[in-house]
Amino acid sequence: MKNDRPGYEIDEMISAKAIAARVESLAREVEDVFSDTSKLVVVGLLRGSFVFIADLVREIRLPVEVDFLEASSYGDSMESSREVRILKDLRGKIEGRDVLLVEDIVDTGHTLDHVTRFLTQRQPARLKTVALLDKPSRREADFTADYIGFEIPDEFVVGYGIDYAQRNRNLPFIGKVRMA
Ligand code: IMP
Ligand code: MG
Repeated sequence: MKNDRPGYEIDEMISAKAIAARVESLAREVEDVFSDTSKLVVVGLLRGSFVFIADLVREIRLPVEVDFLEASSYGDSMESSREVRILKDLRGKIEGRDVLLVEDIVDTGHTLDHVTRFLTQRQPARLKTVALLDKPSRREADFTADYIGFEIPDEFVVGYGIDYAQRNRNLPFIGKVRMA
């Protein structure tokens, strides 16, 4: 592959195999909680969750519907803007429905804090949140996801859907960015 890391290196942190095993166990936890649902609405937060949600829904053995929401993000920087706006709303209704919100990373927590409040206003029957990665040491908002794939230290990571300035989303593993 051509160099897709201008000015930085990527060190593997979580292998593709470890991610796959964890995604499978997260799916079992989700199935347990929603075992009685008639149809689970799985909502992916664009764009970082697209790989995770694709793998996760294929492990969930329940009837599911998939929808997407986009919230404003970091832009091209490594810092959170703290101000969260909804850029693209859901296509479907969630009132009275069981909803699983899927996110790539909880960092300061502002994004999920805002998005869960936004979705709760629509009165879903149940709303649970799953994040592949969590950086608890970075938390500013009072937010805790219901399910977490991996807790990681305060490092900037890429891969498995997660980008740095729109690059490296297609890496099959999670790697940390090291400035060269
Ligand atoms: P929060 O609002 O600070 O919790 O930020 C959450 C969002 O910031 C995530 O959905 C990611 O899109 C982005 N983000 C946080 N940490 C990283 C990182 O290490 N690499 C790439 N994006 C990140
Ligand atoms: Mg994101």
